[in-house]
Amino acid sequence: MSTLAFRAFFLSLGGELCFLDLSKPFDDQTFAAIKTFWLERIVFVARGLHDLTPEQLVAFTRRFGEAHVFHVSRYTMSENPEVYVISNVVENGKPLGATGAGTWWHTDEMYLEKPAHCTLLYGKEVPPEGGDTIFADMYAAYAALPEGMRNRIDSLKVVVTRIKTYESYYPHRPPLSEDEKAALPDVVHPLVRVHPETGRKALFCGGGEAAWSIVGLPLFEGQALLRTLRDFATMPRFVYAHKWRPGDLLVWDNRCALHAATLYDTEKHRRIMYRTTVHGEAPVAPA
Ligand code: OGA
Ligand code: MN
Repeated sequence: MSTLAFRAFFLSLGGELCFLDLSKPFDDQTFAAIKTFWLERIVFVARGLHDLTPEQLVAFTRRFGEAHVFHVSRYTMSENPEVYVISNVVENGKPLGATGAGTWWHTDEMYLEKPAHCTLLYGKEVPPEGGDTIFADMYAAYAALPEGMRNRIDSLKVVVTRIKTYESYYPHRPPLSEDEKAALPDVVHPLVRVHPETGRKALFCGGGEAAWSIVGLPLFEGQALLRTLRDFATMPRFVYAHKWRPGDLLVWDNRCALHAATLYDTEKHRRIMYRTTVHGEAPVAPA
């Protein structure tokens, strides 16, 4: 690969990785530089990857760790099950992928004991307006909270559920089967997590309303606290909004960011995205 270049955006998160070529293998030293940039910037984009194949996407994903297979198989590629397709396009009566995914602030697959730590999202076809993906910096949001609030939340735990919320999020999709539900028990995660690679503390308040309640607090009090933290943490000062061009590849760190997809005119425009995730460790609370 020719020499990479790294450009940080003028924000606390976000950057561009220039000259990434995934058609050829690259060495560990090159990957280490990419990883350092990713850990520093939380989310980066590589542009112009118009000919990226699902196989190349999966191979790149594996550099970050074990590629995960999404739990709803009707939205994954049969040849490359690690690739989860998000799309509004219907071909020959068959949807290409999941519609309306992630249009609220969340972190990916927080409902698992070991949530996705890294997500890659590739824009194969993107609408000319809307359909952005927006990111909020959970290190910066945590650091900006009043000290009393930080002390209060450092030891709190969140109950995360997929099955209580799936049908209200996705009324337009077929409901989960009993087998799919059985594979998704509720989990408990710390509300503040220590990033295992940077050592920094980050708010872990995502999951949309799937971050359901706080252990030890009455339901509505816990939900109100989660909402307050999420509203605070997603103020514009913490946010990078990615406007897609076809051929963009985004890579982000779910351990220190919330993200959301913005709406677009699904009657007028096509959007085809490939997503892969890597699952690492269970989140760890501050000592
Ligand atoms: C998701 C998601 C973002 C997007 O599917 O989890 O966050 O822009 N998608 O499609
Ligand atoms: Mn997501």
